[in-house]
Amino acid sequence: MKAVYFVVSLLAFASVHVLAYDPSPLQDFCVALNDSVTKGVFVNGKFCKDPMAVKAEDFYLPGFDKVGNTSANPTGFVVTSADVTTLPGLNTLGISLVRIDYAPKGQNPPHTHPRGTEILVVVEGTLLVGFVASNQNQNRLFTKVLNKGDVFVFPIGLIHFQQNVGYGNAVAFAGLSSQNAGVIPIAKSVFGSDPPISPEVLQKAFQVDQKIIELLEKPFQV
Ligand SMILES: *[C@@H]1O[C@H](CO)[C@@H](O)[C@H](O)[C@H]1NC(C)=O
Ligand SMILES: *[C@@H]1O[C@H](CO)[C@@H](O)[C@H](O)[C@H]1NC(C)=O
Repeated sequence: MKAVYFVVSLLAFASVHVLAYDPSPLQDFCVALNDSVTKGVFVNGKFCKDPMAVKAEDFYLPGFDKVGNTSANPTGFVVTSADVTTLPGLNTLGISLVRIDYAPKGQNPPHTHPRGTEILVVVEGTLLVGFVASNQNQNRLFTKVLNKGDVFVFPIGLIHFQQNVGYGNAVAFAGLSSQNAGVIPIAKSVFGSDPPISPEVLQKAFQVDQKIIELLEKPFQV
């Protein structure tokens, strides 16, 4: 598939020109062992499988040509992820890949990746994307409308989003500079934490009536 070939070229480019955020590997590969084997022991990353037991399948994950089901998500998007949990060969390599499907008018709401910069390419549809700089840069918003073939970068740690502003579905692929970039969804983290952040804290932080905070918390209550 042309789109997949494009993403593979993009990743090859990223691995040469982007400094990985994760620590560099000290061996050819360290295919992740299933966590259950090492119950109760925690390391930075995952334990390595015996190199002699490593197979091509450890570096392989099919299915990125499959259209994701966006209707299970209230904001109309779904992420298919090739990270260290779904592709154990990525352990210690400082890179991962996602496919993102967007329903018409769907969006990947404001979020950050604590451990990875993201480089995204649109392969179908039209996306409005953006990220917000930190206080250091006056919280400036950088946005762009992307069409098929356009690439955009979201720097590590900064709040960013993508919104489908075209007429049909949209599809993007993105490389991230971590085997496990992590996601902090802003709305869910602030208004849907478990247990909830004190309403007094949020009321003062957002400088609104407590009733508004309760309304904002509602979608995240289970
Ligand atoms: C990891 O361990 C769990 C629990 O024992 C098992 O269900 C799962 O299939 C294992 N995964 C792999 C990739 O071996
Ligand atoms: C998509 O997800 C929705 C909601 O979970 C479900 O009802 C529907 O059957 C799914 N569609 C497909 C094609 O899997």
